[in-house]
Amino acid sequence: FNYQKAHFIISAPDIRHLPPDTGIEIAFAGRSNAGKSSALNALTQQNGLARTSKTPGRTQLINLFQIEEGLRLVDLPGYGYAQVPEEMKRKWQRSLGEYLQKRECLKGVVILMDIRHPLKDLDMQMIDWAVGSELPTLVLLTKADKLASGARKKQLMSVREELANKVGDIRVEYFSSLKKIGIDKLRNTLNEWFSG
Ligand code: GTP
Ligand code: MG
Repeated sequence: FNYQKAHFIISAPDIRHLPPDTGIEIAFAGRSNAGKSSALNALTQQNGLARTSKTPGRTQLINLFQIEEGLRLVDLPGYGYAQVPEEMKRKWQRSLGEYLQKRECLKGVVILMDIRHPLKDLDMQMIDWAVGSELPTLVLLTKADKLASGARKKQLMSVREELANKVGDIRVEYFSSLKKIGIDKLRNTLNEWFSG
């Protein structure tokens, strides 16, 4: 699939505003500021495709991008960001939960975590849910450029081991949008999932 051809379809506040629940969607999930939007931009080689920000909580809507007819990537609102009004947090966590539980065409989830702060409670909940739902899952340890290569490998091994012990076999790779690390592995996984 040619990810460079990705284009924006819609920003939706909840699943009722999404296009029909057909085809295949693959969602990018993770804590606020984990680098979800940046990863989508790196994958598609389009810096302005998904909006990124230094301020956590940038992506508050469900953003859909079409790769080709019936195949979509989804930039989900980040979870776990404290500095947001309660009301807003509730609203956006609800639309996130609803999307994950009800969207039939969701066929895979990429869970992104900052390599320096992986496996927080909400990440574990997300991973438990994905694995429990038998949804194909890829965990990306983002901002890998922030660690030297030794530390990066060590962190990768430790996250793999912890997940193997807690939830079983799950794919974990490191990733950097900035230094373009891990993009091939991400692309290969998406290709596999989009091929059904
Ligand atoms: P929300 O939309 O708030 O949930 O955040 P997000 O997960 O979409 O994160 P976003 O892609 O907006 O990135 C957050 C911040 O991290 C930005 O300042 C990015 O420039 C930075 N960032 C993202 N990816 C990388 C990376 O690979 N390396 C480095 N060093 N910084 C990154
Ligand atoms: Mg974002």
